[in-house]
Formats: sequence, structure tokens, C-alpha cells
Amino acid sequence: MAKGQTNEEVVASSDAFIAPEINSYGKSFRDYNVENERQRSVEEFYRLNHINQIYDFVKRMREEYKKLNRVEMSIWECCELLNEVVDDSDPKLDEPQIEHLLQTAEAIRKDYPNEDWLHLTALIHDLGKVLMLPSFGGLPQWVVVGDTHPLGCGFDEYIVHHKYFKENLDYNNPSYNTKYGIYSQGCGLENVVMSWGHHEYMYLVAKENGTTLPQAALFIIRYHSFYPLHKAGAYEHLMNKEDQENLKWLKIINKYDLYSKSKVRVDVEKVKTYYLSLIDKYFPTKLRW
Ligand SMILES: [Fe+2]
Ligand SMILES: [Fe+2]
Repeated sequence: MAKGQTNEEVVASSDAFIAPEINSYGKSFRDYNVENERQRSVEEFYRLNHINQIYDFVKRMREEYKKLNRVEMSIWECCELLNEVVDDSDPKLDEPQIEHLLQTAEAIRKDYPNEDWLHLTALIHDLGKVLMLPSFGGLPQWVVVGDTHPLGCGFDEYIVHHKYFKENLDYNNPSYNTKYGIYSQGCGLENVVMSWGHHEYMYLVAKENGTTLPQAALFIIRYHSFYPLHKAGAYEHLMNKEDQENLKWLKIINKYDLYSKSKVRVDVEKVKTYYLSLIDKYFPTKLRW
């Protein structure tokens, strides 16, 4: 990815914040002014994200949500609940979220039939978006979706709309604004504090509820929107050997988590039994959220 080029310009992932392409009159945005407006709304999203996601805020969010004291439900119940989330970053407003999840999972299943953990990971990777629902705190978009990045060290210039970090409190904090900040060479991403979003939340839910999914699955869930790393190699100096291995799987799954590749409609009822069996294999019946 070229410097200064935003993730949205490169690839429309399910996480990139993309303003809806259809306006309230149902017309596609074609005109220059409207395209400008769309761009502005993406910028505003990242302005809020970059100013407000500071190290202390992220630590507090993690502590708060780690309590997992909000809801008790199964993975499948959460898949269904996700349909209620109105996600402005989702350009495919006409399809329920559960279809996006299953489209991604089914596409991977076709190409990697023996990696059942990867099918399930694809299904659950976005479940953390329930954070936008009132019973999960009703968090605004800028705290839930969009690209993610580390806190506690300098903001790499490959992070989209990097210029807005100038108003971030950490930007001028000498403990946090150097290449390594509070970290060290090869310390491992597990020890790096990431911006808060559906990624971190779902990672916590899976881990704290004792999932038996492999480490690569947790890595995918946690870093699937860490675009500065997987598109530009930023922050590679913080990775350890295990991260390098896991990144290979993340790059595979990201190829499928694209709207352009998943146009085929999925019959939810037809594939449900298979995914329920995977959920049963890797998760307890009820999870704390
Ligand atoms: Fe996604
Ligand atoms: Fe996501």
C-alpha cells in the first residue's frame, strides 16, 4: 500500500469504515460532491478514532469488558444477535450480517476443507460488533470498527489518516511516542496494547471462556483489522516467531473477508448444522459476554 493511501482505497474489508453507498433516496453515489461527502464521513470516523483512542482509554475498556458480566449466550445466539447491529461501515446494507459471516466461512471451507478451526474462526471473527448494541454498552462506531493499531508506542505513518494523531494525548507523551515506546524488539504482539474494537472484545470473550481453538485463530480474531501490519509491514519489529507463523493464516483469511469475493448467497439453514458442530467442538455451550 502506498504511503498516505487509506485502506478503503485499497480494499473494502468488512471492517474498513465505509459510508453507505446508497443515499436516503436509494440512488447510488456517483456525483462528485456526494463522493466528497462520503470521503469526509470516513475522515470524520478516523478523526474521532485517532483522537480518542489513547493508551489509558484502551486499558480501561479492556478492564471493563474483561468482566464479561453483561450477557450469557452461545456463539450461535450471538451470530443471530449480530443481525440487529446496524453497521454503517457495512456497504452491503441489503444482506444480514450473518450471511457475510457464513459467506466468508463457506468460501474458506471450500478451499481449506480440513482446517475446520479456520471455518469457525471466519464465522466468529466479527461477533464483537455486538458492542454497538445497548446491552453491550452501545458503543459508537469509532470504538468498534475500522482499522486497528498499537498504543504505547509511536503511531506509524502507514496508519490511515495519520494526521489526526497530532490531537491524540499520547502523541506528545515521550514514553509513548518513540518507535518502541514501552515495548522492545520482538516482544510479541500478545504484549502489545491495541486500539479497542470488536477485535479485542471477541478475542477476550473467546480466551476467557476457554475456547480450544488454536492460537492462530485467536491471532486472526485479534488482528484481522491491523492493516498497517498486514498491508505495509508496520510494527513488524514487535513481532516474535509465533506471530510470524500466525500472520500467514491471517493473510489467508483476509483474502476471503472481502465483499468483492463473497457475492454468493448462503442458505443459513442448510449450513447451520455443520457450524453448530464446530461451535460444540471448540466452545462451551454458553459463554459469558
Ligand atoms: Fe469481517
Ligand atoms: Fe472485523
